[in-house]
Amino acid sequence: MNSLTAGSETRMNRRDFGRHALETLTAVSLLECVMGRRLFAQDVAPVVAAWVKQLDALGRDLKDQKLRDVAFQKSLEDLYRQVDLPTLLKALDFDRLARSVKFPEVGAESLAPGLTEIAGVPRDLIFGRQIFAMKKGRSVVPHGHDNMATGFLVLQGSFRGRHWDRVEDQDDHYLIRPTVDGTFKPGSVSTVSDHKDNVHWFTAETDTAFLFNIHVMGYNLESDRVPTRVYVDPLGEPVAGGLIRAPKINHDEANRRFG
Ligand SMILES: [Fe+2]
Repeated sequence: MNSLTAGSETRMNRRDFGRHALETLTAVSLLECVMGRRLFAQDVAPVVAAWVKQLDALGRDLKDQKLRDVAFQKSLEDLYRQVDLPTLLKALDFDRLARSVKFPEVGAESLAPGLTEIAGVPRDLIFGRQIFAMKKGRSVVPHGHDNMATGFLVLQGSFRGRHWDRVEDQDDHYLIRPTVDGTFKPGSVSTVSDHKDNVHWFTAETDTAFLFNIHVMGYNLESDRVPTRVYVDPLGEPVAGGLIRAPKINHDEANRRFG
């Protein structure tokens, strides 16, 4: 009996030891994983923080009237092109963000990129920011902006991207002129201001697709308009001079027709 008991205890001890060893190994693996992520975040954070500071300085130059909006667009596109995309994605913890997305049936989901959580990034960034996520065939619906300068950087997936200049504002429509219609892949950029390419429409061409966006609001001292989006039907009606008579529509109508 004693030997049986002793044997059972021995077998139990072996099982316990095995379980304990497995738990210890799992804990070590998890710790290594967490440490690895932390170390890696530390590696990429300074590079991305420096880039975000440059974005912030550029936005402040625009707000402080040191830079015209069209020059801002050019500089923003240059800065967007300078960032190493895999590095940015790692700093944003993009894989985790992408896994958490509930893709809407219509239109795009707006996600917070958490830039200020990256070590070294100032908390009081001058620009708003978001990541748009959508599934194939869905869109950031056609819209322009009042008193805003914004820019897209494709993070993942492929888009058909279209822009128009807003040439004239009327009571119920805009006159717009087509300026851009192309394929946008990871690393591709596009920008908007009150004076250039101020209607855009991006449609996902891959199963899922993601756009990084920053926007500077209320920069245009010549405008008395509240910074906002304005929705439009850019397909409208062709009129003289290569222009399109594009009816003003609301958000719901834009999503119903183009989302
Ligand atoms: Fe926009």
